[in-house]
Amino acid sequence: MNLRISLAAAAAALCLVAVGPVLAQTPDDALPAGPGRDVVVRVCTTCHDATQFAFARHTADEWDSEVTKMQGAGAEMTAEEQVAITAYLAKYLPKPALDAPSDAKPPPGR
Ligand code: HEC
Repeated sequence: MNLRISLAAAAAALCLVAVGPVLAQTPDDALPAGPGRDVVVRVCTTCHDATQFAFARHTADEWDSEVTKMQGAGAEMTAEEQVAITAYLAKYLPKPALDAPSDAKPPPGR
């Protein structure tokens, strides 16, 4: 057995262990923690990663139609998952209500 090679292999393995936590920082980290996030990551990052939409800010209605549009593109989800996804997106990636009065009513149906 060649000691030099096995030492090199051990050193390489140590490097991989050290790098692991850095590589674990995926684009999914762009999504804030909250209920429904796991569903969004599972359903919405199969075709593109979360950076495709984590920057976006939409109203509940806009997210609803965005999710419907993704279904048209082939995104598969159950009705429950769709509700959870839309609720998460509307809550954590909301459109800032610049011109809404402070006592604005919540959006209809929520
Ligand atoms: C079946 C594949 C697929 C899945 C799953 C998917 N998308 Fe997409 N998404 C696309 C494609 C294709 C585009 C268009 C990319 C382009 O035009 O550059 C896109 C683009 C987008 C955009 C950019 C705006 C737009 O309308 O082009 C947003 C926002 C988005 N997706 C959100 C989501 C969300 C939220 C989910 C989870 C419900 C999701 N996507 C799941 C395929 C998918």
